[in-house]
Amino acid sequence: MEYLGNAVVLLVYIGFVVGRKCEFENRCQCFVNNGKQVSKADCSNAHLTHIPDFPKGIKVIILDNNLITNIPDNHFINNSNLCKISFLNNKLKVLTKDAFCGANNLIELTLYNNEIKDVDENVFMSIPALKYLNIKRNYIDWIELNITFPHALQTLQMDFKIQEEDHIVNSFKGLVNLKTLDISGLSGECECKTITPETFRNIPNLIHLDISACKISYVYRGTFEFMSNLTFLDASLNFCLKFAGAENITYDLQTTSIKILKLNKIHQTFELDTIVLKSHIRNLKHTNLTELHMDSNRIQLFEKGALSSLPLTLRRVYLSDNMFGFGSYFYEFSLVPITFINISLQFSSHKFQNFYEEICLKNEHLSNKPNYNQHEIQRHGQFKSNTLPYTIPFKLQKLIFRNNLFRFKIEANNVPNNSLEFLDCGFNLFYSWIGPLLTYKKLIHLDLSNNFCSNVSKDFFRGSPNLKSLLIQNNLLGFVIIDDMDGEILQHIPKLEIINLADNRIPYLPYNFFKFQTNLIEINLGGNLLEDLSFQISHMQNLSYLDLSTNRFSSLNSTVRGQLETIIKSNPNLTVNLSNNPLICSCDTIQFIKWMSQTKIRFTKIQSYKCRLYNDNNELLKEPKRVYEILKKKCSSYTALLVVLSIFIIFFVVVLLCGLVYRHRWKLRFMYYMTKNKYQNLSRKQSDDEQYEYDAFISYEEEDAAFVHNHLLLNLEEDAKLKLCIHKRDFQPGKDISENITSGIRNSRNVVAILSPTYLESYWCLFEYKMARMESIYVRDRENMFILVSLVDLSAINLPLCVLEKVHNQSYIEYPNDPSANSLFWNKLKAVLK
Ligand SMILES: *[C@@H]1O[C@H](CO)[C@@H](O)[C@H](O)[C@H]1NC(C)=O
Ligand SMILES: *[C@@H]1O[C@H](CO)[C@@H](O)[C@H](O)[C@H]1NC(C)=O
Ligand SMILES: *[C@@H]1O[C@H](CO)[C@@H](O)[C@H](O)[C@H]1NC(C)=O
Ligand SMILES: *[C@@H]1O[C@H](CO)[C@@H](O)[C@H](O)[C@H]1NC(C)=O
Ligand SMILES: *[C@@H]1O[C@H](CO)[C@@H](O)[C@H](O)[C@H]1NC(C)=O
Ligand SMILES: *[C@@H]1O[C@H](CO)[C@@H](O)[C@H](O)[C@H]1NC(C)=O
Ligand SMILES: *[C@@H]1O[C@H](CO)[C@@H](O)[C@H](O)[C@H]1NC(C)=O
Ligand SMILES: *[C@@H]1O[C@H](CO)[C@@H](O)[C@H](O)[C@H]1NC(C)=O
Ligand SMILES: *[C@@H]1O[C@H](CO)[C@@H](O)[C@H](O)[C@H]1NC(C)=O
Ligand SMILES: *[C@@H]1O[C@H](CO)[C@@H](O)[C@H](O)[C@H]1NC(C)=O
Ligand SMILES: *[C@@H]1O[C@H](CO)[C@@H](O)[C@H](O)[C@H]1NC(C)=O
Ligand SMILES: *[C@@H]1O[C@H](CO)[C@@H](O)[C@H](O)[C@H]1NC(C)=O
Repeated sequence: MEYLGNAVVLLVYIGFVVGRKCEFENRCQCFVNNGKQVSKADCSNAHLTHIPDFPKGIKVIILDNNLITNIPDNHFINNSNLCKISFLNNKLKVLTKDAFCGANNLIELTLYNNEIKDVDENVFMSIPALKYLNIKRNYIDWIELNITFPHALQTLQMDFKIQEEDHIVNSFKGLVNLKTLDISGLSGECECKTITPETFRNIPNLIHLDISACKISYVYRGTFEFMSNLTFLDASLNFCLKFAGAENITYDLQTTSIKILKLNKIHQTFELDTIVLKSHIRNLKHTNLTELHMDSNRIQLFEKGALSSLPLTLRRVYLSDNMFGFGSYFYEFSLVPITFINISLQFSSHKFQNFYEEICLKNEHLSNKPNYNQHEIQRHGQFKSNTLPYTIPFKLQKLIFRNNLFRFKIEANNVPNNSLEFLDCGFNLFYSWIGPLLTYKKLIHLDLSNNFCSNVSKDFFRGSPNLKSLLIQNNLLGFVIIDDMDGEILQHIPKLEIINLADNRIPYLPYNFFKFQTNLIEINLGGNLLEDLSFQISHMQNLSYLDLSTNRFSSLNSTVRGQLETIIKSNPNLTVNLSNNPLICSCDTIQFIKWMSQTKIRFTKIQSYKCRLYNDNNELLKEPKRVYEILKKKCSSYTALLVVLSIFIIFFVVVLLCGLVYRHRWKLRFMYYMTKNKYQNLSRKQSDDEQYEYDAFISYEEEDAAFVHNHLLLNLEEDAKLKLCIHKRDFQPGKDISENITSGIRNSRNVVAILSPTYLESYWCLFEYKMARMESIYVRDRENMFILVSLVDLSAINLPLCVLEKVHNQSYIEYPNDPSANSLFWNKLKAVLK
């Protein structure tokens, strides 16, 4: 019924989630119910110094965090429907007899953290229905006051300070219905050195009792024995109690319904190492305890038989922050069907804080050493702390072994069949995982993060084929993973769904690393050194989160984008985290930016993505489309520029080539014919270099044919017996004329050019002249083989510079055309040609 009521109230609230300003006080938020009546007023944090006048039907009033100093008499006289009022963190000083007069139905009252010093002992009698009362943190000693609490009260939270000499006969008088008592010093003040059967005598129906941080040193037998309904007891943080002092508690608990017992830190921080004796906990055997907390007690070991005297109903054990090694106590645990154990933070270092408060003034007789068999302890204390436990409680499902800084290799280990599903070994120093661990068939979750591990063997996971979640972040696995070309490390765990490989200094993941992991849903590779997504992911149809943050990606190339698009076809939920990567927005990566603007893949925190633009500015990538447009413009003009530039360059090169060819056209032609001749007349050309077939090649213009045939041949061939090459006579028929010319020149010692005004205008003459020049320059090493013969006055010929140069080189003879001087001319010519 209560739940139903709550649900209705909740529905009403949801209908008016956002309250509106109250009419009676605009600093308050009002919530109305169906009948349009204000049912709740929230006046918290409103700087109120006085309590507003609330409307008649109001049910809930919240006045937390204000500056209210007093409650006027009869202020709530008209609020008979009021069921809850809270004055948390105000400045109330006095509670008069009529403060709550009229609030007959008030159920819940909070006066936590006020300055109440003066209370009428009957103040609560006007609220007989009160079930919940919190009066912690006030300036008053409620016990001394002999205050009367309403009979119906079920939950009481108050400060509890009693001096040893106090006679607390009347405390909690009349509270037969009290079920929960919280006097914890953590949320208030509690000081109570000794508790005796009288302390709680009046409240035998307690179910939940919190006496933590109460500076308790002694608990007398009989204190709890009559609380047959007690199921929860928290005696933590009474660091003077010790396990010896807790023995009276465990003794009493036999007659209660205890389920959860908390004995955290009942020893001092720097006490000598603790040994839990069988007698300390023996009596728990007769209870139905399910949960036992013994954190922070510097326990080094349990006496033999201590653990096996724990009740068979025990399921959860908390032993963090002690001084255990892995040891035989595990074996004793294995007889108890516990399913959960937390043994984190062994050997943790403690910061110096408030230890000066941890002073125990105990009687001497208690500091005597308890008598235990030293030999037993010795034998028992031989911890095999360089391996994982060799035995595990057979029903254990969850083992937390975190933050213990144990340093060893994990080697082959064959614990008996077990039920372990969840193993958390984070923050140790298991630096090499060799295995194989053969018997963890049920293991689903394995946490080996933060272990400085740099070596994992291909067999390590062989015994845990059902693993679904593997957290191995913050190790040094980059060293081995980089060589795992065929996915052998993970080959035995194909059911894996979550893998965290963050912060492992991985520079590169081989293509087949996740070959067998088709079920992966979440991959975390954040904080590595990856530049490329080089591994296959397209076979993981259910992949929904891929974390590549804080790596060295500048973009994702088309292969990778293709893989991601394959996945999103079957799983539209795919999310990729690319934050904190040095992304680049340039013309090279424009396709990547375009893809980002179009893909359906979600990017986490895309608002924070930055990329470096072409001009070295950083651009936010939260709207990839906009960046793409910018880039598109930039890159298209860039392409145009590139095209223009390359055309220009090609043009330039062509012009240059043409120029070169033109400039060397004669040389090129000469070479051409030379090679051609060489191949055709190979045998003939082999003859002696000095032997030329002709003494001279005569180059002349058709106009001068008469002079050549009539005078030249006569004078030189017949008289001087020189052999001349004349095209009309000596050229081989059927052969190309230009070839004839070049071979003629080749085979002649000299070339005689008969200059005339039209000589250089004739194509063939020019050809002969140039070829002869080439021959002299490139073949005969600039030997002068040229003889220019001019038949007319040179000034009449418009000679080009290169010919004039020859003239000045004196290889030039002018034909006098005068019979007396002619013989001199012929003799001169003959001499030159010889
Ligand atoms: C209570 O109601 C009476 C009559 O309706 C009214 O006179 C009185 O002022 C009210 N008291 C308060 C504290 O609102
Ligand atoms: C406490 O109150 C009871 C009655 O409620 C009374 O008999 C007793 O004398 C009171 N004790 C003190 C110390 O005020
Ligand atoms: C314990 O609780 C049950 C029901 O919750 C109740 O009937 C019984 O009286 C309680 N025992 C004591 C000793 O109060
Ligand atoms: C246990 O209780 C008895 C009285 O019942 C008391 O004498 C003894 O000192 C207590 N032991 C401790 C360790 O407090
Ligand atoms: C423990 O539980 C069993 C069965 O539920 C019950 O018979 C027994 O009385 C309980 N023991 C205690 C000490 O509550
Ligand atoms: C295990 O104990 C440590 C230390 O008390 C605590 O921080 C951690 O939350 C516990 N873990 C679980 C799963 O209970
Ligand atoms: C573990 O279980 C397997 C089969 O489930 C069985 O063959 C083997 O003997 C068991 N080993 C131990 C030590 O119980
Ligand atoms: C690393 O693992 C291999 C087995 O995979 C093992 O042979 C080698 O000794 C290990 N190296 C170290 C330093 O532990
Ligand atoms: C993907 O998930 C669905 C539903 O969770 C499951 O039925 C299917 O087998 C999974 N596919 C793969 C390849 O793991
Ligand atoms: C993309 O990068 C991967 C990994 O470096 C490479 O194997 C692949 O060939 C690249 N694809 C393209 C199209 O460059
Ligand atoms: C993405 O990576 C950043 C940087 O490592 C991290 O802060 C953020 O929490 C990640 N986002 C999600 C959804 O995990
Ligand atoms: C996608 O995510 C939503 C909510 O996060 C979930 O309900 C849905 O099943 C998911 N779809 C797939 C195919 O994983």
